[in-house]
Amino acid sequence: MLSESVIAAATSTLGPADFVPQVRRSEHADFQADGILAKARTLRRSPRDLASAVVAVLASDGLLTAAQVAGPGFVNLHLRDRALLAQLAARLTDPRLGIPTPEAGVTTVIDYSQPNIAKEMHVGHLRSTIIGDALVRILEHLGGTVVRRNHVGDWGTQFGMLIQYRLEHPDTPAAASKAQTVSDLAALYRQARIAFDADAAFAERARRRVVALQGGDPETLAAWRDIVAESTRYFTEVYDRLGVRLTAADAVGESAYNDALPDVANDLEQTGVAAVSDGALCVFFDAIRGPDGEPTPLIVRKRDGGFGYAATDLAAVRQRVADLGANRILYVVDARQALHFRMVFETARRAGWLPSAVDAVHVAFGTVLGPDGRPFKTRAGDTVRLVDLLTEAVARARAVVAGKNPELSGTALEQRARQVGIGAVKYADLATGRTRDYTYDPDRMLALTGNTGVYLQYAHARVRSILARAGGPAPAVDLEAPLEPTERALIMDLDAFDDTLIEVTATYEPHRLCGYLYRLAQTFTAFYEHCPVLRADPVQRGNRLALCQLTGDTLRTGLQLLGIDAPDQL
Ligand code: ARG
Repeated sequence: MLSESVIAAATSTLGPADFVPQVRRSEHADFQADGILAKARTLRRSPRDLASAVVAVLASDGLLTAAQVAGPGFVNLHLRDRALLAQLAARLTDPRLGIPTPEAGVTTVIDYSQPNIAKEMHVGHLRSTIIGDALVRILEHLGGTVVRRNHVGDWGTQFGMLIQYRLEHPDTPAAASKAQTVSDLAALYRQARIAFDADAAFAERARRRVVALQGGDPETLAAWRDIVAESTRYFTEVYDRLGVRLTAADAVGESAYNDALPDVANDLEQTGVAAVSDGALCVFFDAIRGPDGEPTPLIVRKRDGGFGYAATDLAAVRQRVADLGANRILYVVDARQALHFRMVFETARRAGWLPSAVDAVHVAFGTVLGPDGRPFKTRAGDTVRLVDLLTEAVARARAVVAGKNPELSGTALEQRARQVGIGAVKYADLATGRTRDYTYDPDRMLALTGNTGVYLQYAHARVRSILARAGGPAPAVDLEAPLEPTERALIMDLDAFDDTLIEVTATYEPHRLCGYLYRLAQTFTAFYEHCPVLRADPVQRGNRLALCQLTGDTLRTGLQLLGIDAPDQL
């Protein structure tokens, strides 16, 4: 960042380079540097004295008009117009807009989306999918290696029930042909569940079917594969519609770890990390207790010898570190699973599968609420199907787009409706603090003003239309021209793009990028209201067009990193 480099260069003359200037935007100057206080403490010097020494060095730097000591030892920085313009010029001519690659050499394994086979995707999967996709894009853009893991629910006792029912009822729609639809499968699932609960003999046959599935019986496995394949086709369709970069190859479901589970359990037992308690293999934690004060264990192997969700996650951690070389593992999963992940991570650390150098983070998110303030359900009390929600959003977006562009029709209208509708759903989700619950409100997410995806898409399209009207070659920056205050503010906002992205990767909070883009669009509006662009004199016109260009490129890159399209026209 602009100001950081100025002050870092100046202060390198004062001492070791480990000095962190902590520069931020200031109300009293362009920037202020707060890091001198901490540095003075380690050097055992008076902060104000040290600040004066820094100011003396900075004063001789041609990039500043002034630097003053303020308060207990802050330094206020006033940048020369020329320094700001040089930064604008540098970013403008860099296809990466000056964004560094601090993630180079870092491998992140990210576990997200995770729908369940033979069930519909719902609004909870929407959050995981969208947040995960944005994090993937940002980490990759910063130079990181990202391995996607769609930890699909494709294993467990429910498959015994499902396969048995399907074999016994070959005429139900879901069983009749291989080309079942996922809603047929979901219906089959409901019917099988009813039979399982009502008919003890069927329940017994279903249990035997689980044993056959686990034992690799060919007929049973074939039926299981059919069901998995159909659901996977369906998930891929939804991902395509969402514009999410998850493919069938990224789906490494629970079943993939099945063969490793006995070994995981044995290892934990032999090293004493887990112990048998009441017939089940458990891991205990001093700090984790239930309401009765009794320790709550992580159950690795159930009393009946079966393995569950936790064993699978332990096998996955081990594989992600040992085979995939993860430096960091992210789990984009509902906040209600916080305890599960705490126990899994702690167990994996004790077992030595998760070395301290590897981060494991539960990237938790809150619940999507309906208009009644309760978890979002249909009027009949069912979970809301993700596809219905997307269809509705695109239909509403079509009305918004058509209202603004009456001449648009056919595929052009469809395409824009899709870009706006899907963008609105994603943005509404990403712009909310990740761990907060939020109310799903299609009217608000498609509002043309306020912190919405549509507002930003329009802001971007407006900048593009100014540039299109200007025509001519790419704008060039004149470093000697004076700057208006709104131009200075815009350059400084543009300059904060890379810091914002780095903040997102430090916190896994995409809403910080949303907030940044929203502020940038507002700063641009203030600039455009005060500074004529197309009618300005030639030198100013060039600089202002350069500002338009970099704003457009920053908005587009930012939206794309959130997984949102930024068309040139809306
Ligand atoms: N399939 C699970 C669900 O729908 C989420 C899986 C989360 N990922 C994991 N590695 N446990 O609730």
